[in-house]
Amino acid sequence: MTQIKSNKPKVAVIGMGNIGTTIATNLVKGNRPVIVADRKMEKATGLAKKLGALVQPMDIPATIKEADIIVLAIWFDAIKELLHKYATELQGKIIVDPSNPIAPDDKGGFKKIIGENESAGEILSSILPTKAKLAKALGTLGVASLAAAAFRHAETAVLFYTTDDTSINEDIEQLIRDNGFEPVRVGGINQSIRIEVFGDLHEFGALGKTVTAAEVKEKLHPQLFI
Ligand SMILES: NC(=O)c1ccc[n+]([C@@H]2O[C@H](COP(=O)([O-])OP(=O)(O)OC[C@H]3O[C@@H](n4cnc5c(N)ncnc54)[C@H](OP(=O)(O)O)[C@@H]3O)[C@@H](O)[C@H]2O)c1
Repeated sequence: MTQIKSNKPKVAVIGMGNIGTTIATNLVKGNRPVIVADRKMEKATGLAKKLGALVQPMDIPATIKEADIIVLAIWFDAIKELLHKYATELQGKIIVDPSNPIAPDDKGGFKKIIGENESAGEILSSILPTKAKLAKALGTLGVASLAAAAFRHAETAVLFYTTDDTSINEDIEQLIRDNGFEPVRVGGINQSIRIEVFGDLHEFGALGKTVTAAEVKEKLHPQLFI
């Protein structure tokens, strides 16, 4: 398989479901090579076949070894398991968590599966492998908006992120731009609850929609940034 050269850090997406395939598709539109993986290898190879040479399918262990930035596009409990299972291999990697800690309720909606005042970001931060760096990102919009609002020419839509490690801001912001969005850092991981489902800056929370950088500046700034 042809290796696509890029001078940017190597990015991978693990989990070829709704969000993972949308992120990989956006990255290809942004001309960024991406490694894709799933526990079912055929999902990764199928997407690579569909999206072309910028996409390289690998199994999960090889993906973790190869990539610098790893987007874990899987459910919250599966992320916890994966961080535990690959604790050694994930050392020093940038881990991107788009998860929302929710599950279907019995009324056709969703409920939080962690405490009301807890966030997935903070819980994952507390079990992070040594020297791994965590950003909460790419999860502030539902999958439909993540696909439809990417690469808008006139008014670029925003994706919010949080991280405690400001040395990775540039990497996360480039990743968001390569997905077709404008990055806005909300603060440290302790602000993650705001950008997860039901939070005040989530499409399925008080914000209720996609916003542009101009709207963020005019309406949400300065109380947005902690
Ligand atoms: N959908 C949205 O609108 C949305 C928006 C923002 C954030 N998110 C977050 O994104 C994450 C994924 O959501 P989704 O809607 O994309 O879910 P999904 O469509 O169910 O996809 C999850 C994918 O991950 C795979 N997977 C599960 N466990 C795995 C593991 N341990 N290792 C590797 N792959 C694994 C699944 O494969 P199998 O087929 O084998 O189960 C499936 O392909 C969740 O945390 C969710 O909260 C979703």
